[in-house]
Parts: sequence; structure tokens; C-alpha cells
Amino acid sequence: MLDEGYVTADGRQIGGVMMDMRGITLRFGGVEAIKNISFDIREGEIRAIIGPNGAGKSSMLNVISGFYNPQEGEVWFHGKRRPPMKPFQVARQGIARTFQNIALFEGMTVLDNVMTGRLTQMKSGMLAQAIWKGKAEREETANREVVEKIIDFLEIQAIRKTPVGRLPYGLKKRVELARALAAEPKLLLLDEPMAGMNVEEKEDMSRFILDVNDEFGTTIALIEHDMGVVMDLSDRVVVMDYGRKIGDGTPDEVRNNQEVIDAYLGVAHD
Ligand SMILES: Nc1ncnc2c1ncn2[C@@H]1O[C@H](COP(=O)(O)OP(=O)(O)O)[C@@H](O)[C@H]1O
Ligand SMILES: [Mg+2]
Repeated sequence: MLDEGYVTADGRQIGGVMMDMRGITLRFGGVEAIKNISFDIREGEIRAIIGPNGAGKSSMLNVISGFYNPQEGEVWFHGKRRPPMKPFQVARQGIARTFQNIALFEGMTVLDNVMTGRLTQMKSGMLAQAIWKGKAEREETANREVVEKIIDFLEIQAIRKTPVGRLPYGLKKRVELARALAAEPKLLLLDEPMAGMNVEEKEDMSRFILDVNDEFGTTIALIEHDMGVVMDLSDRVVVMDYGRKIGDGTPDEVRNNQEVIDAYLGVAHD
């Protein structure tokens, strides 16, 4: 590959293009949620997507994760064009996500919720488990090891056995991150991971996102409204407005882009 990437201000090596969205258009009936957008995500990068409500940000993550297949455009992953896929097939390629609205099993414990993140990883089906009990047990042990490592990493050991429904909002968001990480993704998609959090919870979540990127080498694409957080965390930013892309660059470039200022940065966001 000709394009080898770049080194960030804080000295991290960013690699070549991992995810390449080319001319994506997504329609819901008469609504064009995404209008001919192209952008890429590089290996090791923290890539932010920002823009006002209804801009098409969640729709874009949903295209990447296979929840929606676009009417036009091409999705290229690791240098290969990806055919239309179901979300579970995309997950098997090493892409995991969290949701804008928390999607956890409220009645289940933290540990069991995080274990569900291993499902795409499990090789033995029910029949295989019945016949080759030993193999299934080894797999179960390996899954538990990964899950316990992630629970330690995100500092939620103390609530492993607590039903998720009893947790405060900030911790639920962290459990959702844990479940996504349990799949050991190469690319992690976070849809507003800090929405509704207080300052302290946001600081914790920011630190965990940076640590995940640093320690596991996970590439991250995140949607976030808090511009302070975006500026601190991300290497490059895509700005969307009414389904169009109106900016793409480093946080500084985007912050000084007049169209971006007019459409988004000039007005207050919570
Ligand atoms: N499943 C859907 N069916 C119909 N319209 C949708 C659907 N999902 C999103 N939209 C529409 O697409 C546009 C972009 O929505 P969305 O991607 O959720 O924006 P954002 O995440 O930037 O707030 C909005 O006009 C929204 O109403
Ligand atoms: Mg959204």
C-alpha cells in the first residue's frame, strides 16, 4: 500500500485505511439520511463523527455495522469491497458496537451481559456441545478469561454479580462498552458513549476509550456531541449536516472550518 498513515501529535502511529466508505447514500422512503458521503477510518485511529441531531450520524454507524445496507455506494474493509451483509456477519469480521440507547439485558448480571458479547466468537453450536463436551468446556473457559480481563480493565469487578437494571446510567454505559470489547473487535463503533453523563463520568469514559485504543490497539469510531471531548479524544473528525458531509479533518481543521461553524459549532449543544 502506498499510503502508510501518519504519526499523531501524541506520538501514536496511525496505519493505512481500514474502513473506506465510498459515495454512500442511504434512504428511508423519501428521507435521504446519508447523501453521497465518502470517508475513511485508518488502523489505530480514533475517528469522531459529529453534527446536529438528525444529521445521519447513527445511520452511518448502522451502515458500517451492517444494520442498514445503503442504496448507493461501496463499503471497503481491509482493502476488499464488502458485499451486503447481515449484522452478525459484520460482527464476525471484527466490528463491534454500542447503541445510542442502552441495549442491555436489565435482569441479567453484569457478568452475563458481558458474556453475551462473546456469542459471535463461539464456534461450537448446541449439537457440537452435546457431542464434544470437552471442546465446548475449553471454549467456555477461554471465553470467561477474556471476559474477566475486560471486566478488570474497565474496573467493574465490584459489580460483576449485580443485575444491570440496578446500576446508575454511567455504569450501564460502561457495561455496554465491556460487552462490545468482549468480542475483541478490531473496529469499535460507539454511538454517543457519553450522552447523559455528568462531568466525572465523561472523564472516566474518555480515559477508558483512550486506554482501549492504546492497550488493545482497537480502532474506534465514535459519535459525540461534547466538543471538548471530541477535541481531546479524536485524531480526525467527520462533520455531518442534513445527511451531507460538510467537514473532514483534524479537530483543529474542523474547528476553523466556516461551514462547520455556521452549521454546528456556532450553536449550543448539550
Ligand atoms: N429506521 C429509520 N426509518 C426512517 N427514518 C429514519 C430511520 N433512522 C433514521 N431515520 C431518519 O434519518 C435521519 C438521520 O437520523 P440519524 O441517523 O438517527 O441522525 P443522528 O444520529 O445524526 O441524530 C433523520 O431524519 C431520521 O429521522
Ligand atoms: Mg444518533
